[in-house]
Order: sequence, then structure tokens, then C-alpha cells
Amino acid sequence: MVNTTEHWGEVPAAWNRRHLLGLEELSAEEILLILDQAERFRNVLKRGDRKIPLLNDKTCVNLFFENSTRTRVSFGLAARRIGADVIEFAASTSSIAKGESIIDTAKNIEAMQIDCVIVRHSCPGTPKFLAENLRCSVLNAGDGPHEHPTQGLLDILTIRQRFGTLKGLTVALIGDIAHSRTARSNIWGLKKLGANVIVCGPSTLVSTHWKDVGVEYCYNLDEILDRADVLNLLRIQFERQVMRPFPSIAEYSHLYGMNGARMRRTKENVLIIAPGPINRGVEVTPEVADGSHSAILEQVTNGVAVRMAALWLTLGQK
Ligand code: CP
Repeated sequence: MVNTTEHWGEVPAAWNRRHLLGLEELSAEEILLILDQAERFRNVLKRGDRKIPLLNDKTCVNLFFENSTRTRVSFGLAARRIGADVIEFAASTSSIAKGESIIDTAKNIEAMQIDCVIVRHSCPGTPKFLAENLRCSVLNAGDGPHEHPTQGLLDILTIRQRFGTLKGLTVALIGDIAHSRTARSNIWGLKKLGANVIVCGPSTLVSTHWKDVGVEYCYNLDEILDRADVLNLLRIQFERQVMRPFPSIAEYSHLYGMNGARMRRTKENVLIIAPGPINRGVEVTPEVADGSHSAILEQVTNGVAVRMAALWLTLGQK
């Protein structure tokens, strides 16, 4: 194992945030700085290094009030890869069940000398609320339909690895734009880095107001297939919907599902990504999800590197 600490240097002076709450508030330079650091971490991991002892004296808590596979595991792994301790918190087995509030819960955990809270919650704004009320760093692991910044960053990193740049690319986000925090983080990040963004889905799930921030909207997937360099296939978030926004899953899949026939009408080098979890047969068929254009598992690998970068930048400042 190569000890990379001595080559790693310090957190760049251009980064001075203690929290990562969303991509809307970051500048293009800050986003690029995270991506560049993530790329470095990814290269070190690829070499086979499993420990880069940069945050040896730090302790993080995974404070998840919603289910997660990718984000929770990769934040935990990322923290351990750079030497931090990780405590897992599950709301269902905590004293939340006895009526304790989220702020009392968080303050009690912080009182145990915690350096960082990684929070996922169904209520938009929860990470910002905690950041305003705690002394430790707060990283947003997804707040309702608002933002999922590390997902946006890992999506963008995956796209940049494939195309070299975001400038001038056309990225289509397809599906449940209305309830997708991934869509929002993608939109802010992609626009800041010079990509053209199209949101596409049923009119009940795609607001025309996106045009106010320079995003094209569209209700017909077949009209945009040959223009997109990247298709980001979003899950229908039934858990956030009050009313069913379309008649049936079969109809949704017929109109917006990515399948082999549609793949034949895309650009030759189109990139297929999806934040996961994917619902095979709904937004994507297995032949597309597992096909040669898909970078779905590559995204997950990049997620560890992105989260290592986010943790190091927010916690590693002198
Ligand atoms: N993409 C994503 O956030 O997945 P999880 O819900 O499994 O963390």
C-alpha cells in the first residue's frame, strides 16, 4: 500500500465551506474543485490503495431518516477510506420513535464530539436547518425532492470522464422531474458547467418553469432521442406523490421507458446513466441498463470518490 498523505497536500484555499448542502449554492469553480479532487481519489483507489489517512482524528455520523443503499454505504466507505470513524444511525431504532425531535437528536449526537453529520431526510431544508444549528459540518445525503448534491456530482463526474468536458453537451433528464432531488442537483451542476439540459416526462411531472433557468422541457421522449449525448433515467418517486400522475405504469413505460428500440434512435456514443435504484421494466429495460452504453455501476464507483472529496474538503481544512 502506498501512503499518499505526504503527496496529497492541504485542502485548496479556494474551498472554504464547512458544509455541502446543494449544488445550487456552489460556483462552477467549486464544483470543478470537488470533481478534480474526486478524480484524484478515484485514481488512488484504482491503484489499489484502500486507506488514505487524511481525516484520522475525525468522526462522522450517517444520520439517515430515509432508506438508502448507495449513498449510505458509499459515504461510510468514503469516510473510512480517508481514515475517519463512522457511526451509523437508523431513525427506526432510535429515540425518534419515542418522540425526540430531529434537532434534539442531532444536538445530542454532536455532544459526543462528532465532527460531521451526513443527513438524509424527507423534508427539504433539513440539512440547512442542521447546519444553522450545529457546530459540526453537515453534508446533504438527500433532502426530500430538493437536492442530492453528491449524486449530482457523481453523475457529472461520470459524464466528464466519458466526454472530457460538460461544455456544449446535451443532457436529458427523463422521468419524475417534479419529485427528483437528483434532477435538481443535476440541473444546477450541469448548467453551471456549460451543458444544455432537457427535462422530459409526463406534463404532470415536468414544470414549464424550468425554462426560466435556461432548461428546455419536453413531453415527448422520442423527439429528443437523437439530440442527447447523455440520458439520465430517473425513477418514478411514488413515495413522494400525493396523486398518481399518469394512468398506469405500463403506459408510462411505453411512453418514457428506455428500451432497445429507442436505443437504436440515439446518438452512436450516447451515455446512459441512472441514479438508482432502477426499476427494471419501468424507466429502463434490462438490455439498456446492462448494455454497453450504460455507466450505471461506474456511477456507483465514482460515488465513493466524490464522497471522499466532499468529506475531505469540508472536514480537512486547517
Ligand atoms: N441514488 C441514491 O441515492 O440511492 P440510494 O437511495 O440507494 O442511496
